[in-house]
Amino acid sequence: MTSNQTNPAARTVSSTQSEMTEVVLPNDANTLGNLLGGRLMHFIDLTGAIAAYRHTRTHVVTAAMDHIDFIQPVHVGDLLILKSSVNRAFTTSVEVGVKVWVEDPQTGSRFHVASAYLVFVAIDRNGNRQPVPALEPETPNEMRRFEDALRRRQHREAEAVRRKKAKAAAAQAGEPRA
Ligand SMILES: CC(C)(COP(=O)(O)OP(=O)(O)OC[C@H]1O[C@@H](n2cnc3c(N)ncnc32)[C@H](O)[C@@H]1OP(=O)(O)O)[C@@H](O)C(=O)NCCC(=O)NCCS
Repeated sequence: MTSNQTNPAARTVSSTQSEMTEVVLPNDANTLGNLLGGRLMHFIDLTGAIAAYRHTRTHVVTAAMDHIDFIQPVHVGDLLILKSSVNRAFTTSVEVGVKVWVEDPQTGSRFHVASAYLVFVAIDRNGNRQPVPALEPETPNEMRRFEDALRRRQHREAEAVRRKKAKAAAAQAGEPRA
């Protein structure tokens, strides 16, 4: 299956760009008043899915969220700004990058607090995978992210093979399943 079979229109990165702003509430925080990592992952997943949806214009499911850096804590009352865009389109999947800033509501100053890469797979309403349009990077930064996304995909694939082999070896050695 190639991306040109049913969905020929290539997209630009800017057409996929998405932004979400959230205020951090006590319900989002731990006992120290810091934003919970899982809550931040939820916001990242949503913002990433919107970029993937803008690219594919069909349903998407999260296949992987494979690299997240939590750089600084976020506190109750802070504003979270999340920005996402598609880095590269493959056959039925896209890699999306999400970058997160915290904004001090009093001063307006912004700090980068987290970054993540996610893979979304396009499906129809019956769950069948769908070919995705190509992505055409335009700027030097978009081209760099496009190249890096391929390297990350190769790394993911190599890691999946390594895990499969380790699992098979453990099963052969009679170890209990993890
Ligand atoms: C993601 C999913 C659709 C992949 O289905 P699958 O039958 O394993 O599909 P394949 O192995 O043929 O791969 C399909 C595409 O997904 C990509 N993919 C599958 N698993 C992946 C993973 N773990 N990481 C990154 N990409 C992955 C493949 O690279 C392939 O991309 P391509 O078509 O662009 O080359 C399926 O595993 C699924 O439905 N998972 C649950 C999704 C979900 O519920 N997400 C929310 C979790 S709470």
